[in-house]
Amino acid sequence: MQHPPLQKDQSQKKQPLEIRHLAKSLGGAQLFSDVSLQLQGGETLAVVGESGSGKSTLLHLMAGLDSADAGEVLWHGENIQHWTASQQAMRRLQHVGLVFQAYYLMPHLNARQNVELPYLLAGKTPDEAHCMRLLELVGMAGKASRYPRELSGGEQQRVAIARALALSPPLLLADEPTGNLDEDNAGKVLNVLLDACNAQGCAMVMVTHSDRAANHLQRKLNLTHHRLAGG
Ligand SMILES: Nc1ncnc2c1ncn2[C@@H]1O[C@H](COP(=O)(O)OP(=O)(O)O)[C@@H](O)[C@H]1O
Ligand SMILES: [Mg+2]
Repeated sequence: MQHPPLQKDQSQKKQPLEIRHLAKSLGGAQLFSDVSLQLQGGETLAVVGESGSGKSTLLHLMAGLDSADAGEVLWHGENIQHWTASQQAMRRLQHVGLVFQAYYLMPHLNARQNVELPYLLAGKTPDEAHCMRLLELVGMAGKASRYPRELSGGEQQRVAIARALALSPPLLLADEPTGNLDEDNAGKVLNVLLDACNAQGCAMVMVTHSDRAANHLQRKLNLTHHRLAGG
């Protein structure tokens, strides 16, 4: 069955993410400092770094899940540190789709219900047709009734990507989304992420230790020697 193309929101043309001079230390050691970048609407950016370089920490700062020692995080030009924790949480649901290495699907919900979950968290009625279109986009419509335990790792990650896209966020943040997958599945998941960004007009930051995965994205930066540098 043919579905209409996914709608692109006008707001997605604005700069979805900017970080300015971010610094973070953990356990007494400086992870990075003076990290700045601007992400354009629809742009895909890879941040590459070795294990322990601070990639996950940086991504969490971008998502407002952790706070920096210095610097600013802006979504659509607004400084997220000016909001209360509950304002941040509500804005995060609308603004950021999160994809993790370990998928984090809810085990007691099937694939379709997992994709519908962000609506419930936002106090909205799920748009069932939109969720099914997303499952189609990631090639999982035929397994919408399956539970996570009945899906392979690559399939679970594709459902997690559909869930991240449910509320049409202008920004996807992906933490080693192919890290637990074999080469074949990693390639499929990367393609799904890029196709989804293209279809929905959303921008993406993907952090990875894999140069190979990073080369599929439009732009690449390296997190190395406590700084973010051109790749
Ligand atoms: N809560 C914490 N307390 C102290 N050190 C931490 C904490 N979380 C992470 N670290 C350390 O910070 C460094 C960077 O972690 P992380 O951002 O997860 O790196 P990456 O994702 O690049 O592997 C690692 O050396 C890690 O051990
Ligand atoms: Mg990490």
